[in-house]
Amino acid sequence: MKKITKAVIPAAGLGTRMLPATKTIPKEMLPLLDKPVIQYIIEEAAASGIEDILIVTNRQKSAMDDYFDYFPELEERLGKSGKEEYAKAIRNAADIANIFYVRQKETRGLGHAIWRAKRFIGDEPFAVLLGDDVMHSTVPVTKQIIDAAERCDCSAIATKPFRPEQISAYSSIKITPLADRIFSVENLNEKPLPEQALSNYAIMGRYALTPGIFRCLENLPAGAGGEVQLTDGLKMLLSMEKIVAVDFEGKRYDTGNQRGFLEATVEFALRDAKYGAWFRDYLKSL
Ligand code: G1P
Repeated sequence: MKKITKAVIPAAGLGTRMLPATKTIPKEMLPLLDKPVIQYIIEEAAASGIEDILIVTNRQKSAMDDYFDYFPELEERLGKSGKEEYAKAIRNAADIANIFYVRQKETRGLGHAIWRAKRFIGDEPFAVLLGDDVMHSTVPVTKQIIDAAERCDCSAIATKPFRPEQISAYSSIKITPLADRIFSVENLNEKPLPEQALSNYAIMGRYALTPGIFRCLENLPAGAGGEVQLTDGLKMLLSMEKIVAVDFEGKRYDTGNQRGFLEATVEFALRDAKYGAWFRDYLKSL
């Protein structure tokens, strides 16, 4: 398989689970400690060997392209007032990777958002990182998925087991073990009712896909929730190519809803070099 150097980050959702804050702030721009959520995703992609990133946005998300741009006036002002650390931080954010943007124009689901990346990706394998799913791991999760895709010479998806009552919020996959932490995917379904779940394993927001997925997404009808689902595209891809799933090492936080966002905030703060010890003492003192 050709080396994976391109990634797509779909970030065109409406952020309804985080309203009212997301009325004017894209959910990807909400801060987790001192950085917006999407910066963690982009840093993970870069740490996984990704050089070019396409963010699929919508008309309410221009704060994202501004953030990954330079801001010379602010940098100069910070430099002059001895705040080089901040000046460096805001410049670094713009230099993590080559970032490109395309608008989804209509909110028609994850599958449709990925299809918008067809011309950017061309005929090569690529990674997908969902903007809501923030990961904490020793080896970047995207790298774990890319390694599995390259090793098995096929598409690879991230997976984690969930309790049956939680699976309906995600997707479920039927799998059989292949190697350590790697499974062969036999079937998939999106937002299954508990009785429709194929197993307790759900797809998590990291994928390494072959360009064959674009043929599957092209005329795909809307599925669960009336949206074009990437999972339905993967099901079609599975009828032509094999797909593997990786029960990755690491923890995933769903920052697209209040609970997940709080969990991530607390755990990232506890692990933080600057604030961790203070925050632990503070929590204990409550
Ligand atoms: C999306 C995918 C779903 C996956 C989930 C992981 O769902 O469609 O298959 O399990 O991300 O976070 P969404 O969160 O957009 O409803």
